Amino acid sequence: MGSALVGFGKAVPALVVANETLETLVDTSDEWIVTRTGIQSRHVAIEETNADLAEAAARDALGWTNGGFSERRFDASEIDLVVFATITPDTVCPSMAGLLRRRLGLENAIAFDVNAACTGFVYGTTIAESMMAACAPTSAGATGRNPIRRALVIGAERLTRLTNWADRNTCVLFGDGAGAAVLEWDETRPGIMGSFIVNQDDFANALSSPAAYDAPQPFNADGTLKEVPALLGAAEQGIDDELGVAELVGAGRPRQVLYMDGPKVFKFAAEAMTEAVNQVLSRANISLDDVACIIPHQANERIIKYAAKKLNRPMDFFQLSIAHTGNTSAASVPMALCDAYANGRINRGDKIILVAFGGGFTSGAVLYEA
Ligand code: UT7
Repeated sequence: MGSALVGFGKAVPALVVANETLETLVDTSDEWIVTRTGIQSRHVAIEETNADLAEAAARDALGWTNGGFSERRFDASEIDLVVFATITPDTVCPSMAGLLRRRLGLENAIAFDVNAACTGFVYGTTIAESMMAACAPTSAGATGRNPIRRALVIGAERLTRLTNWADRNTCVLFGDGAGAAVLEWDETRPGIMGSFIVNQDDFANALSSPAAYDAPQPFNADGTLKEVPALLGAAEQGIDDELGVAELVGAGRPRQVLYMDGPKVFKFAAEAMTEAVNQVLSRANISLDDVACIIPHQANERIIKYAAKKLNRPMDFFQLSIAHTGNTSAASVPMALCDAYANGRINRGDKIILVAFGGGFTSGAVLYEA
């Protein structure tokens, strides 16, 4: 028995920005971006919010539209849990999960957000599965906890709101989108067979975004009032120091954007991806030979190539969606998963691995039987 993945959906914003457009913004070229990353274009949300994208993806996954891949139509009242993975929420309060719960009328759902950067969907799925395993009422009766039979797990980002469009090292990489999956506790299916999630300290400050809030404060440290309320105080300066961005911020760079040392993250990512795949296989006592395909985080095609070599598998063993999405952080794995169903590459009974890595550092993998 296990948590079966039974519904999938995705949504992207209307605006498509091709590499050629970025050539007019920063000193880059289509050729550099394609050969170094595999990205040709990305979607940028101008009129859509994160919640709009997530809602569209969720409606598909719940079988409320013909756009997704759902084993049946799920009623709003059947969803007991919403786990929403994002680092770019429209709101801090209510949570994005809470907003979605209201928009979709999920009156019985517990709802909360998860921040695990690009690994967010893998973390969210693992959390949902763990809660279902602990809380699903079985033939033996209730568990004494909130009953959770079905969960909606979302990965959705408006990452281009965190993007520094003057920085060619990062702005060519990111895009916006949302992906969703419905999990159902099923006593007749193996569903999720194993998971592995792990954190490592990002000692070298390879990936960060220092500012989450921006209400200016009226007080000095001694309690006197400032003439002009301002955000940047000793506490913010301390954070900037800790994240290694003080000098750049001092030089006028915004605090609310992503800072990344690409090569350092690349090195971590390439190792983390193969490690997570091997760990989840060993936890489930399954060989990679028994797996039909891997759905990896779409950060850079070269990271996937590196993993393919290490795992001794051809590139077509991996779902590749990056060319027209860029890196969409927590949305990347569920969007690629939806593409894999759309391409007809996943059949009932196939064993599938979802794998991701990202800021924090976080990394992890989920193995499930379709
Ligand atoms: O989602 C979570 C995590 N994110 C990732 O996993 C991203 C991991 N990192 C990467 O994917 C790659 O490191 C990047 C795509 C970000 C960069 O690729 P790279 O092959 O590691 O390039 P690099 O940073 O070593 O830069 C090589 C050269 C540099 O020029 P010099 O110093 O050799 O003259 C850069 O200034 O390429 C230059 N460069 C660019 N040139 C044209 C950097 N960005 C660009 C650009 N266009 N957009």
